[in-house]
Amino acid sequence: KKRVAILISGRGSNMVSLIEAARAPDYPAEIVLVLSNRPDAAGLDRARAAGIPARAIDHKAFPDRAGFDAALQAELEGAGIELIVLAGFMRILTDAFVEAWAGRMINIHPSLLPLFKGTHTHERALEAGVRLHGCTVHYVVPELDAGPIVAQAAVPVLPGDDADTLSARVIVQEHRLYPAALALIAGGGAVLEGGRVRFTAQARDAGAAI
Ligand code: GAR
Repeated sequence: KKRVAILISGRGSNMVSLIEAARAPDYPAEIVLVLSNRPDAAGLDRARAAGIPARAIDHKAFPDRAGFDAALQAELEGAGIELIVLAGFMRILTDAFVEAWAGRMINIHPSLLPLFKGTHTHERALEAGVRLHGCTVHYVVPELDAGPIVAQAAVPVLPGDDADTLSARVIVQEHRLYPAALALIAGGGAVLEGGRVRFTAQARDAGAAI
């Protein structure tokens, strides 16, 4: 099983869905560590309640991004982490850190990328008038929300939606998609090669779940 760290900044609902999925005996990854850049992240207690070691590394305690990322790297190395999963982690990582983890770090973003990179995606989807919205799991590259796409799920935008009703519809899909995408990657069904995702033979079986 691949040793996985989940990085969070907030409530950690995606983290919980990953922890629960990883309890299945045949799941190809184990969640061994949860880290938050915010000491007050509600997800830290949720991780501990699930029996996962969870630590805050307060980014405010470091003079710059490189210092924070070095502390992060030390924790990850200490725990023998092989894959990083960003789940509502709202801190920009340095290019050097991202490049060190190329092909071994994924993120979930609450839009159908390449639409609506950045924040406030649900408000912007409503503003743009799109009739389909959703979420995307992608490999992390230095450019924000621009990495190769591993998996996506779409939801309709319904008449009368506001950001709350729309995000509630999207998060249901996030909780389903992210564990499936992590299983695909940890199980060798998808690999990053030459800046593109290559889906391997194993992906054909896992594909039904995504
Ligand atoms: C999720 O909707 C996730 O897609 C989004 O933050 C939320 C975290 O919720 N991530 C980003 O916007 C990344 N830029 P959670 O803490 O309950 O998983």
